[in-house]
Amino acid sequence: MKFDFVVPCLMGAEGLAADELKFAGFENVVTENGRVLFSGDMESCARANIILRCGERVLLRLASFEARSFEELFQGVSAIAWEDFLGKDDAFPVRGHSLNSQLRSVPSCQSIIKKAIAARMSREHGVEWLEESGDRYQVQFSIMRDRAEIFLDTTGDPLYMRGYKKQSNIATIRETLAASMVKIARYRGRETFIDSFCGSGTIAIEAAMASLNIMPGARRSFDSELWGFYDNRVFARLKEEYIAAERHEKLPVFAYDIDPECVEITRMNAERAGVLDCINVERGDALKIDYPSERAVLITNPPYGQRMMDVRSARELYRGLGRRTAHSGMKKYIITSDGEFESFFGKKADKKRKLYNGMIKCDLYMYFK
Ligand SMILES: C[S@@+](CC[C@H](N)C(=O)[O-])C[C@H]1O[C@@H](n2cnc3c(N)ncnc32)[C@H](O)[C@@H]1O
Repeated sequence: MKFDFVVPCLMGAEGLAADELKFAGFENVVTENGRVLFSGDMESCARANIILRCGERVLLRLASFEARSFEELFQGVSAIAWEDFLGKDDAFPVRGHSLNSQLRSVPSCQSIIKKAIAARMSREHGVEWLEESGDRYQVQFSIMRDRAEIFLDTTGDPLYMRGYKKQSNIATIRETLAASMVKIARYRGRETFIDSFCGSGTIAIEAAMASLNIMPGARRSFDSELWGFYDNRVFARLKEEYIAAERHEKLPVFAYDIDPECVEITRMNAERAGVLDCINVERGDALKIDYPSERAVLITNPPYGQRMMDVRSARELYRGLGRRTAHSGMKKYIITSDGEFESFFGKKADKKRKLYNGMIKCDLYMYFK
């Protein structure tokens, strides 16, 4: 059976997630603001959850309809054949958001949707009381300009939670953002890679995983893996296939941080990700280490002066980094929220790209030599 799926993305990463899906042969891939759509069966759903490096979750869209009143919302939700998906004991928590719509109160929409599902499930399963003690089917709604979309969240914990980052420094970035930067730089393990402000190691680990063909979801679980309305053994089969296709070899990937605790955290995270012996993690000062002269790429996330350091010290770092790397000839991809980065770094970027680090609007400054 075919469904429509929606993959919410960090703003700025939609095109990257769409490319991942297109490259893997998914059908009807469409990019929208903040999300990517595709269609397919539950095997495609499992595959998307396992392979996506740049998307945040995979939502199965059950319905899309106009809802200007609670009655319209109730009717629209009641029309969905919930009993085809959920067993009579399964849990169906509801969450969502509303924007630019007449139905503004999220808690009220939540309770209307919950009531509509419960009424239909009781009727169709012929029970008065729904235990909700079984598998979790997270219901998600989005109401935008009076159009309601109702989804089942097939993912559970968001996709950026690969499972390897049990510890992190205070200003760590999401795995999906790190993977997006690696993808923008087209890093595939051939040239030297450096992150000289590695923190918890996210960018270096994502670079290694992409280079070694390690799928981000191959070792974690997903909510829909337990669902009973399709043959959910497909998840285990796909994970096994992907794990069998992984490579394991030494890479020219170098991660440095000045803080010994961050170096230790990066090592532990890399070990959990299965790449510790493929990369090099060392203590180092980004302003003192030797950068390679060519065939190398720096992808890094220095302090912004927001969560870490003050703005003046962060800018001193940018100035120092600019001087230290000025003659290295390597490509540089540096993400920061500081709009004046280029003047401190001492060079105008060849290209800039807007990316969001959580709620912080940033630019990725790209230097091609
Ligand atoms: C924004 S955090 C990096 C977070 C990282 N991308 C992650 O995902 O965890 C910046 C890091 O730069 C490190 N740092 C600050 N000054 C440094 C310097 N001179 N040389 C190397 N690392 C430095 C800090 O210890 C901190 O871990």
